[in-house]
Amino acid sequence: MPVLNWIGKDKVVNHDKELPFRVLKPIEELSVGHNNKNFLIEGDNLEALKALMPFYYNQIKCIYIDPPYNTGKEGWKYNDNVNSPIIKKWLKETVGPEGEDLCRHDKWLCMMYPRLTLLKDLLSEDGIIFISLDNNEVHNGRSILDEIFGGRNFLGTIIWRNVTDNNPTNIAIEHEYIHCYSKNKDSLDSVWKSKLSDAKNILIEIGNKLIKECSNQEELQEAYTEWFRENKQYLGQLDRYKYIDSGGVYTGSQSVHNPGKEGYRYDVIHPITKKPSKQPLMGYRFPKSTMDKLISDGKILFGKDEDKIVELKLYAKEYVDKLPSVITMDGRLGVYDLRAVISEEVKSFNNPKPVELIKLLLSYCTKDEDIILDSFAGSGTTGQAVLELNKEDGFNRKFILVELEEHIAKNITAKRLKRVIEKNNVTNTGFEYLDLNGVLYDYSGYVNPDAQYEDMAAYIYFTETKDYLDLSKIKNPYIGAQGSTNYFLFFKEKDKNILDEKSLRETASYKGSKVIYADKCLIDEEDLAKQGVIFKQIPYELKKY
Ligand SMILES: C[S@@+](CC[C@H](N)C(=O)[O-])C[C@H]1O[C@@H](n2cnc3c(N)ncnc32)[C@H](O)[C@@H]1O
Repeated sequence: MPVLNWIGKDKVVNHDKELPFRVLKPIEELSVGHNNKNFLIEGDNLEALKALMPFYYNQIKCIYIDPPYNTGKEGWKYNDNVNSPIIKKWLKETVGPEGEDLCRHDKWLCMMYPRLTLLKDLLSEDGIIFISLDNNEVHNGRSILDEIFGGRNFLGTIIWRNVTDNNPTNIAIEHEYIHCYSKNKDSLDSVWKSKLSDAKNILIEIGNKLIKECSNQEELQEAYTEWFRENKQYLGQLDRYKYIDSGGVYTGSQSVHNPGKEGYRYDVIHPITKKPSKQPLMGYRFPKSTMDKLISDGKILFGKDEDKIVELKLYAKEYVDKLPSVITMDGRLGVYDLRAVISEEVKSFNNPKPVELIKLLLSYCTKDEDIILDSFAGSGTTGQAVLELNKEDGFNRKFILVELEEHIAKNITAKRLKRVIEKNNVTNTGFEYLDLNGVLYDYSGYVNPDAQYEDMAAYIYFTETKDYLDLSKIKNPYIGAQGSTNYFLFFKEKDKNILDEKSLRETASYKGSKVIYADKCLIDEEDLAKQGVIFKQIPYELKKY
């Protein structure tokens, strides 16, 4: 396979392996509600992704990233070039003096390569990654994604048609791109695609059966609701199809109003009361001719009177269980979405993505308990999309967001998530705000005083076994096993973590060989060998990953 070369590539291809691990420190005053494993991390995603590795290796079901497009425009609210002071410093340190002279494409590639490598390690075998780009880097992005994820795992590039460009002098660019890769296409094919199709088929089958059996609309809805109550657990994300009529099973949750100023304005007359339906605040999404056709096709859902805002019916039979390669969605919706939650901060953030766009992507490949990661989080659209999807289908997806710029993370991302959580009024959700603390250890003997037992245990387990540690299974000093080898860690107080006859007895009930990490060992090597124990001194004998 041909590979792309650029200046500085040799310095970054293995850079992810050279990075030290850092400790993630919870900031209580910026965290919100019940911590159910949603996280917002402030800091450089390179360090954050590495810090997540011992806890999330191979665990992330879906990654969506919207990195700087590298448009060459300066003066953006966030750095759209790779010119943030932090990234400039990082390039200089990593690539060396030639890092100063790189062209903007070299810089972008140097920045992206090690981050994508870490993202791949975090992605589960049946996971998917979506990467938003535009014409500036779409081609370079595809080349390095092919190299890192493997060309055979390329699923497709979605064209997101998001603007109408009225400039007639050139080719009017009316779209952006979303590259889509799996970690392992074989696992993907057998896991979620078939489940989605099955659920959809069940829904259509029962819909057709009830339509034949019931004589009127009320009876039909009642029979369907009853069936749905009993079978809901099998339907996964299709359980949003709550209604039924002669056309089949449908959802009434699609909005027809336009939250922006530019919506179409006209009256929709309620079929029973003959009064104009309550006008959405900002007008409708469709022109009048389209709306009239939707009404005459029976695709608009009216309430009992004009007070209910009308909605669009989306039939299960129209649901495509493959992502379409072209999505048309007004790009301005992203700003309207953000404005609807934190109007005061919108001016300081450019081009957030529409929540519906991210919901659409996530609804194809995530389900209950899946973890979703966005390491270029910006205003937190991905977090809002996860919270809203969970509210709609009752699932408990979790999000991890990373944002570099302190003012964005604190004043926009965290604030937005907090307000969405409050607005949704869900008591059992929230997020933990994490700061990137110093390195976990170094080989001069330093161990981070803020490191918790779990931090060191997860690191040891991961570097020994290349597997993530289920923290709920730790029984200090026991941290876990792989095959017939048990791993232990004595890590209570600096310089008091000693392996002696007394502490060794704490491991006696575990059969098989033992690897024990501590500060010091007072048992001689021969005795240890007789008992099948290998002692490793912290931090000098910690393995690198
Ligand atoms: C295009 S914006 C993402 C917008 C986001 N999708 C939304 O809807 O709000 C890119 C974001 O990535 C952040 N960023 C850039 N480099 C980063 C890095 N190395 N680590 C973490 N975040 C980074 C920028 O500060 C910016 O907020």
